Amino acid sequence: MAEMTVTPWEVVGEIDYEKLTQQFGTQLITAALRERLKRPHAMLRRGLYYSHRDLGKFLDAADKKQRISIVTGRGPSGKMHIGHTIPLLIAKYFQDEYDCEVFIPVSEDEKYYVKPDLSYEQAEKYAQDNILDIIALGFDPKKTKIHRDFQYTTIYKYAAKIAKHMTYSTAKAAFGLTPSHNLGWTFYPAMQSAHIYLPQFLHGPHMTLVPIGIDQDPFMRVLRDVADHPEIKLMKPGAVHSKFMPALKGPGTKMSASDPDSAIWLSDGPKDVERKVKRYAFSGGRDTIEEHRRLGGNPDIDVSYQWLTIFEEDDKKLKKIYDDYKSGKLLSGELKGMLIDKINVFLAEHQKRRVKAGKQVEKFLLK
Ligand code: TYM
Repeated sequence: MAEMTVTPWEVVGEIDYEKLTQQFGTQLITAALRERLKRPHAMLRRGLYYSHRDLGKFLDAADKKQRISIVTGRGPSGKMHIGHTIPLLIAKYFQDEYDCEVFIPVSEDEKYYVKPDLSYEQAEKYAQDNILDIIALGFDPKKTKIHRDFQYTTIYKYAAKIAKHMTYSTAKAAFGLTPSHNLGWTFYPAMQSAHIYLPQFLHGPHMTLVPIGIDQDPFMRVLRDVADHPEIKLMKPGAVHSKFMPALKGPGTKMSASDPDSAIWLSDGPKDVERKVKRYAFSGGRDTIEEHRRLGGNPDIDVSYQWLTIFEEDDKKLKKIYDDYKSGKLLSGELKGMLIDKINVFLAEHQKRRVKAGKQVEKFLLK
């Protein structure tokens, strides 16, 4: 397996999550911190979110009833798959439980710079498409602001404030920039930093928390360094980092737009879901039913089980599934059936809400 590389634009090799926290300088989420969360979402309870920056400070501010806000974003390089909902659903959890404002930047510029084959027009189309999926996840229009880099150009003046105090050598080290990268790559970190400071630029200093996949943390590292600068003087935003939801086909594969069968897309119909899970979901089951009954399966490597940890809310049911699969009582096909049902219920609801989302866009957009 290739050596581990994790940057916002490249994830290669087998990932050692603890090592990443050391490399990035983040903290593991302790049991004590987890217990402070109000009615923690399954992804927080079960350790999919495993690392953080200043979560404690964010919760202190919440306890003191101070203003708090959430920022999480999307780079529209294609249609959205289930993995992309992981930070958004946690943003919604915080909105629901802590009654706070959520900001969702959509970075067409980023994906336009980074993806050689993505045209400007196509990036804009994906932005419009992805915004419908974001709204369909159920955010409160009164407390959610979605903004696009090609549209909410006010963001540029905030990015400029940050860019002035961020050196090229800092960005080069954090993002692995080389002389052949286009100039867009070198400026974009100032844009994402501006997204994350936006609630503070608009409402004054307060604690912001950013739910993201761990790949996005290099942005947090560089942007937190500018918080204390006399021209900025804002609070260092905190973050909660998730591990990656594994790709459908298992170890060594990726969820990628170039292979529609590598993931479940938010636009997939029930038949697609059934076909993909049955045919491709990497199984920790045995080769024959007889062997499986005798030796049991391995839920820890089984993609259907891993995905159920996201879709099955009930801890007791999930534990029973784990135990039954491990003992051989539950077969791989049965486990897949459970996952197919869960995903199809989620997607049916999502797709219904997405149809209505078209009418709501204006309520959410910052322009
Ligand atoms: P993007 O669009 O590549 O991904 C969106 C978010 O989804 C996470 N993610 C996953 N999480 C778990 N499992 C997976 N398999 C998986 N695949 C993707 C990513 O880590 C990310 O958090 N630069 C950002 C967009 C952005 C942003 C921001 C994010 C713009 N401004 C401000 C946070 C805050 C991006 O390209 O994400």
